[in-house]
Amino acid sequence: MSTATARANANIAFIKYWGNTDNDLRLPVNSSISMNLDGLHAQTTVTWDDGLEADTFALNGKAHFGEALRRVSRHLDVLRQRLNIEARARVESSNNFPTGAGIASSAAAFAALTVAGVAAAGAALTERELTTIARLGSGSASRSVPTGFVEWHAGSTHDESFAESFAPPDYWDIVDVIAVVSQQHKQVGSSAGHHSALTSDLQAARVAGAEQRFETCRRTILERDFAAFADVVEHDSNLMHAVMMTSRPPLFYWLPPTLTIMEQVRQWRAEGLRVCYTLDAGPNVHCICVRDDAEQVSQRLHAISDVLDVRLARPGAGATIINI
Ligand code: DP6
Repeated sequence: MSTATARANANIAFIKYWGNTDNDLRLPVNSSISMNLDGLHAQTTVTWDDGLEADTFALNGKAHFGEALRRVSRHLDVLRQRLNIEARARVESSNNFPTGAGIASSAAAFAALTVAGVAAAGAALTERELTTIARLGSGSASRSVPTGFVEWHAGSTHDESFAESFAPPDYWDIVDVIAVVSQQHKQVGSSAGHHSALTSDLQAARVAGAEQRFETCRRTILERDFAAFADVVEHDSNLMHAVMMTSRPPLFYWLPPTLTIMEQVRQWRAEGLRVCYTLDAGPNVHCICVRDDAEQVSQRLHAISDVLDVRLARPGAGATIINI
């Protein structure tokens, strides 16, 4: 029996991943960029146990069966094959943020599962390979393995589709002030959304400009140019949601307060606050701002009715082994 525990932060995408060229391998149609979110993490213990008859999975202390267990087990199959082991595993995971509500829980979960599973087997793989393995569990999980500000190169093969850090967490003092407007589990998960992305006439247009937005976003982060960063980040989020809304069947992730907050953020920026919004596949609004303006943004969000909670996250580290 061998065991290890790893922790991985969630991440927020500034240039979005939406749609695959290969759904099984999770090869994305475009490269993406994200920032790890300090303190919003999944912590996962993997125990490879020859005595087990089947994999088991507990999340926040509760045993899971059905589709959740199958997805974890499929990922364990990938690890077993790569690491040449046959044992089944006990997986115990906990999140310190709501699952399935626009804070990418699958990203943190599969990054932590990958790193813990490999460490528990006593193997040492390169970070690059860990990102490709995490990607097979959940595309965005590839970006939760490296530290700080991360780019995921789309690539056209399994080995080429990997993520790497391009700036450490302390490179730019920005904060993700998350306005939580729903803590419900979303009805249509990201995987189904990736599959239907091409049914939108707008996906081709979104993808056509993605490389240029990727380059612009990367440069604005490296130059710490907030105004240009805000422009490309909001635009990229709007494009992804336009694709979602025009897919068949359509995907509407916004709730009424979502739009209220988006409009307020634009207004606050016009008044001089350095803040912009971005949304993942959920109704919660990630308000990205410079550190000096984070308190103001947080207070203003609290004052909006229907905002259930406000969470702050600074740029975070990559996945780490915390016990072996
Ligand atoms: C909207 O990585 O959750 O958050 O690969 O099917 O697990 P799967 O999808 P997932 O998709 C994330 C989509 C997004 C945008 C992003 O994080 O880039």
